[in-house]
Amino acid sequence: MSGCPFGHGAEPSPPADPAAHAEPAAGDPPGVMEPLPGAPPGMTYTDYLQLDALLTAQAPLSPDHNEMLFIIQHQTSELWMKLMLHELTAAIDNLRRDRLPPAFKMLARISKIMEQMVHAWDVLATMTPPEYSAVRPHLAQSSGFQSWQYRCIEFAMGNKNAGMVRVHAHRPDLLAIVSDAHRSPSLYDESLRLLARRGIAVPAACCERDWREPYRASPEVEAAWLEVYRDPEAHWDLYQLGEELADLEDAFRLWRFRHLTTVERVIGFKRGTGGTAGVGYLRRMLDTVLFPEIWSLRTRL
Ligand code: HEM
Repeated sequence: MSGCPFGHGAEPSPPADPAAHAEPAAGDPPGVMEPLPGAPPGMTYTDYLQLDALLTAQAPLSPDHNEMLFIIQHQTSELWMKLMLHELTAAIDNLRRDRLPPAFKMLARISKIMEQMVHAWDVLATMTPPEYSAVRPHLAQSSGFQSWQYRCIEFAMGNKNAGMVRVHAHRPDLLAIVSDAHRSPSLYDESLRLLARRGIAVPAACCERDWREPYRASPEVEAAWLEVYRDPEAHWDLYQLGEELADLEDAFRLWRFRHLTTVERVIGFKRGTGGTAGVGYLRRMLDTVLFPEIWSLRTRL
């Protein structure tokens, strides 16, 4: 047998001498076995990833087999959202400092995380209506509507809504985090400020305003982006920023859509546990436009 042992079609063969694999080979790079100075002695995979905490955080409340899927689907989404917020906050900060290449790297990663979350709906869609109904009474009023990380992401993306802050009034620690995201400039706000710093005409009201207010689209901002898109060579990084924003909103729209279709598949037109009309509410959310002029400019090109 010849060829790369990791290649398709290669037949795996057992190591000639299993004992030889217990110790590093003579040519292994330094540091493979020796911990670096400062690393906790004897630290294992389980320790480093705090798997004891992570893997004991699933506590089904019903006797139903399928509740584990429901819990893990939500928990993994929250983990991805944590990473998304980490990247989004840093991307916004980089834009504010005119550091575009790292911001682009982060925005691209966020789009990929979002795509990952879009595909994850396929797993939840294996939950049938009777399976969900067995779990539903145990959820009480808890709902994704109350996800503070999701709300921070929406706010950082510019979908400002004061009503969504009050949802967290019962938890002052979370209220402080969500309020902070609410009153901070969004990714789009910082993008427009960047355009202005580059000498492109952007209304002053877009560069300094009460950031808690929802963003309102304007012909002037559309004209600003058109200037960029009509001459990409002259404004290459701003043009790239525009396309990164389009990627991001595209992925976000897909997530919203798959949430809606999965919810319709599982609960039909019943009300949500959070008290909204359910599918009707989620359908309205599909109309949200985060970066309006990034889309409208396309008609004018
Ligand atoms: C079978 C599973 C699911 C059902 C039936 C469901 C249903 C709903 C409904 C009806 C709403 C509207 C608010 C309400 O009245 O509760 C909602 C909102 C929401 N759900 Fe889900 N959902 C499911 C899974 C998920 C998962 C896995 C996530 C991931 C974290 C999630 C995140 C959210 C978020 C963030 C909102 C707020 C959306 C917004 O305000 O725009 N949901 N969900």
